[in-house]
Amino acid sequence: MSVHQQIKRVTTHVLQEMKGQGRKIAMLTAYDYSIARILDNTGIDVVLVGDSASNVMAGYETTLPITLDQMIYHGASVVRGIRRALVIVDMPFGTYQGNSKEALQSAIRIMKETGAGGVKMEGGQEIVESVQRILTAGIPVMGHLGLTPQSIHKFGTYVVRATEDTEAEKLMHDATLLEETGCFAIVLEKIPADLAGRVSASLRIPTIGIGAGQYCDGQVLVLHDMLGITQDFSPRFLRRYHNLFDEITGAVTRYIDDVKKCDFPNDKEQY
Ligand code: KIV
Repeated sequence: MSVHQQIKRVTTHVLQEMKGQGRKIAMLTAYDYSIARILDNTGIDVVLVGDSASNVMAGYETTLPITLDQMIYHGASVVRGIRRALVIVDMPFGTYQGNSKEALQSAIRIMKETGAGGVKMEGGQEIVESVQRILTAGIPVMGHLGLTPQSIHKFGTYVVRATEDTEAEKLMHDATLLEETGCFAIVLEKIPADLAGRVSASLRIPTIGIGAGQYCDGQVLVLHDMLGITQDFSPRFLRRYHNLFDEITGAVTRYIDDVKKCDFPNDKEQY
């Protein structure tokens, strides 16, 4: 039996089992092969190729500009570095909203050209037709409710969502609808912990929170934020596990010094 065959891959069914057993799901973003390999070795459950690549990889202010081709490039790079985790690729803005046929074509391209295990889409009732059509092709769909960054121009700010009853009720309704439609999990972004707890308790499928508190069935963070590569973004929910900004700055500064003072390369570092 090869090493590949011995590894038990994380599937959507495994996530469902984890919820049933009360085991929390850990998800992080990745956008390239080398980082994906490191994450997979840690035993992370899910790797999300988020459209946050638009911010942290490409330097755009929002997630809107990233294209389907670019998401496919990131997705395929990540998949090449993964042997165990479930890889989910975000469907970028403009590739699924309001046109279920285009949504299906976009999702099929992602699955064929990246080798990922599913796609993620933002929205509730408004995207149900697209979700349904994608599911008919056997493509697993993860939902995303609450703060949906692709709609930033509709909402105007990145503040906590669903603090008012009407929005909270719509979110509850959308979550149920996405589950009934066939989504295998739902990301809940930046909503009150109590509401996320009620949604999680009422659904059979797992919820994965980001800024949605401790009652979600799993958690997700943007890798560049939790590693402290990004510095200009410090929401309350973000726990920084490292300060890679300072680490990289220190290492690069030492390298520059060594080159300038002719200390690098030394006798042992040349042929
Ligand atoms: O794009 C992304 O990284 C995401 C997470 C924040 C959930 O959607």
